[in-house]
Amino acid sequence: MNVRVLDNPAAATAQLLVAAAEAGGHVVLTGGSSPGKAYELSVDADWSRATVWFGDERCVPVDHELSNYGMAHEKLLSKVDTTVMRMECELGPDAGAEAYEAAVRASLGGEPRWDLLLLGLGPDAHTASLFPGKTETDVADRLVVGVPEAGLEPYVPRISMTIPCLNAARHVVYLVTGASKVEAVRRAFGDPADPVSPAARVRPPAGELTVLLDPAAAGEGEAA
Ligand code: 6PG
Repeated sequence: MNVRVLDNPAAATAQLLVAAAEAGGHVVLTGGSSPGKAYELSVDADWSRATVWFGDERCVPVDHELSNYGMAHEKLLSKVDTTVMRMECELGPDAGAEAYEAAVRASLGGEPRWDLLLLGLGPDAHTASLFPGKTETDVADRLVVGVPEAGLEPYVPRISMTIPCLNAARHVVYLVTGASKVEAVRRAFGDPADPVSPAARVRPPAGELTVLLDPAAAGEGEAA
């Protein structure tokens, strides 16, 4: 695991996104508020040979402010020429998950290898839409699951890649910002990590794990 504390982790994330895109890779994007800046910084790259996937989605309309696809579309995907594989939450979480799993298998087979998989970390140490203590976090025989009840706001149903699917990456990159994440960072990436934390289970056996933190998420700059 390579943990880096950077003043501008979005710029470092964008560099990794751009390199993977220009290599024609399968790139998995994440949602939440942290990655928007990194997406904006990636628009000048050549995305034409890349395929863009999503690690999770919130079941809201694509033009809703909470839509992961909607955010990525606004910041990046509407501005580049690329192939986008969107999670279809409008089918409902379970049927949408089945459709996405079928799409992954049709493109990449049962053992996908993501070239770059970007993830965020929730304050409860959830990742993608896998929440601590929820049954979906333990699913090992599917690539994609429906998540009828989220464990944290926004409380909308979700679709999420499973832990084995996330771990199929050649390179997992976490982008984590803000002081509200300090405890989650310890649970997810500390030694020892907290096994209840879904993010602590993302350890790609045949890939790299990079954690990019801003100083606040790393707990730096707090009063002594
Ligand atoms: C989601 C996410 C989720 C997110 C973290 C961090 O759809 O909710 O993909 O896993 O990455 O909650 O979110 P922030 O960047 O908003 O802190």
